[in-house]
Amino acid sequence: MKIIMLGIVGAGKGTQAKKLAGHTGIVHISTGDIFREAVKNKTELGLKAQEIMEDGGLVPDDIVIGIVKERLEESDTDTGYILDGFPRTINQAEKFDKTNNDVDAVFYISIPEKESVRRLKGRRLCGSCKRQYNIYLNKNINGKCPQCGGELIERADDKEDTVKIRIKNYIKQTKPLIDYYRKKGKLIEIDGYRKIDKVFKSIVDSLPNN
Ligand code: AP5
Ligand code: MG
Repeated sequence: MKIIMLGIVGAGKGTQAKKLAGHTGIVHISTGDIFREAVKNKTELGLKAQEIMEDGGLVPDDIVIGIVKERLEESDTDTGYILDGFPRTINQAEKFDKTNNDVDAVFYISIPEKESVRRLKGRRLCGSCKRQYNIYLNKNINGKCPQCGGELIERADDKEDTVKIRIKNYIKQTKPLIDYYRKKGKLIEIDGYRKIDKVFKSIVDSLPNN
């Protein structure tokens, strides 16, 4: 099963991709996570990506395409993959589809723009175990991870001004992918403006061959 998660920043791509990976056993690949790890480890890729990400921009297509191609050569993708955050431009999609034209489904998780801003304002990550929380959903968290006690931090690109730029870039560069995959008959639209478990149930119910 080869799946792509599409949607505005904060739509819940990562949240749902993780749950789907747990449910199906298929590997979850987030380009954002790959870049954040590279930034943390100060690799050559990380040094290139850091400023772009913190400014809310997109990493150049050729770099992203190379990273994804390399990642998909690993054996844990033999049974498929759940791509989260890729492709993000028409150019990325066209290049990707030339070699991977057998994607089964593209889940487009839709939420209102206002909700995107609200969710990112409330997002917190555990600096130790990387679990993700939201202050609006997890009302009892108090700066510490309830699972491991690690410090909860905000993502560097979740500052309000950066979120505005990310949303603009999404509208200009990523939103056209909705029509691109609709025309290919791959798009499955999911209303993401509901409780996490309800959204997840819709995704599972819409899986091809379900
Ligand atoms: P990336 O990490 O992919 O960020 P993004 O697309 O901006 O998406 P987010 O991770 O912010 O949102 P999400 O949809 O995953 O939502 P989440 O589940 O976390 O990319 C980061 C950067 O890397 C990019 O800006 C770019 O620079 C670079 N990059 C990555 N891929 C690239 C590419 N292909 N090309 C070029 N550059 C690339 O949920 C958000 C919050 O809401 C969480 O707190 C969560 O708990 C909460 N939440 C989730 N679902 C619900 C719900 N149903 N109800 C209430 N709250 C919810
Ligand atoms: Mg994400």
